[in-house]
Amino acid sequence: MFRNTPPVILAKDLAAFAAPVYGGRIPAAAARRFAQLKGEKTPAILLAVFGNRDYDDALLEMQDLALAAGFVPFAAAALVAEHSLMPGVAAGRPDARDKQQIVEFAKASWQQLQQACGPEALCIPAVKGNRPYRDYPAIPFKPTALRACVKCGACAAHCPQGAISAADPTRTDASRCICCMRCVAVCPHQARGINKLLLAVAGKAFSLKYGKRKEPEFFS
Ligand SMILES: Cc1cc2nc3c(=O)[nH]c(=O)nc-3n(C[C@H](O)[C@H](O)[C@H](O)COP(=O)(O)O)c2cc1C
Repeated sequence: MFRNTPPVILAKDLAAFAAPVYGGRIPAAAARRFAQLKGEKTPAILLAVFGNRDYDDALLEMQDLALAAGFVPFAAAALVAEHSLMPGVAAGRPDARDKQQIVEFAKASWQQLQQACGPEALCIPAVKGNRPYRDYPAIPFKPTALRACVKCGACAAHCPQGAISAADPTRTDASRCICCMRCVAVCPHQARGINKLLLAVAGKAFSLKYGKRKEPEFFS
C-alpha cells in the first residue's frame, strides 16, 4: 500500500496491471492496490493470470478498476499459469507456446499504441465477464504451520495479507488468509502446508474437471 499520495502515472507512460485470478475474481488486496493508483488517461495493459479453470469476471473487474482510476485499458490478456493450489494442474505453464503468444501480443499492443494519435484514440476492448461480478467463493483450505516450523518468521514477513503473527508464526488469522500459498512457497523449512488428504481429494476431482489444456485469451 502507498503511505503518501497515490502515485500518478502520466499519459506518456504505459501501465501494466497484473493480478492472479482467485475464485474467478482478482484478490481483494490487489483490487485495493489498483484503486490507489491514478492515471491521466494513461494507456494500460491488463493481465489476469489463471490456473486453467476459468478467469470468469477477473479481467472485466480489472478493466472497470483501471477505467475508474483514469487509465485507458486498450489491451488485455488472460494468461494460463500453473495452478498454485491444485498441484499438477497446468504444470509447466506458461510454456514455449504461451510465451510466443505473449510476445506477439506485446508487439501488437506496442504497435497499436504507436499508431494511435493519443490515448483518446485507443479503443477499449470488450473483455469476457459479467456484472455484477460473481461472489468470491470461500476457499476451504488454509495453510498452517507444521511440526517442522522453527518460527523463523519468513512466512509472516512475506504474507501479503498480514495474516500470520510475526511474534508466533504458528498462529494464522484464518479470516485474513486468502490461501495464496505464498507462506508455503517461501518457508525455508517446508514447514507450512495444507491438509494433504483434503488437498489430494479435491485436487483429483479438480484435475478431472479442469485438467484439459486451456489457451490464453487476448483482447485488443
Ligand atoms: C485461492 C486461489 C484461488 C484460485 N482461483 C482460481 C480460479 O478461479 N480460476 C483459475 O483458473 N485459477 C485459480 N487459481 C489459480 C491461480 O489463478 C494461478 O495459480 C495463479 O495465477 C498463480 O498466481 P500466484 O501464484 O501469484 O497466486 C486460484 C489459486 C488460488 C491460490
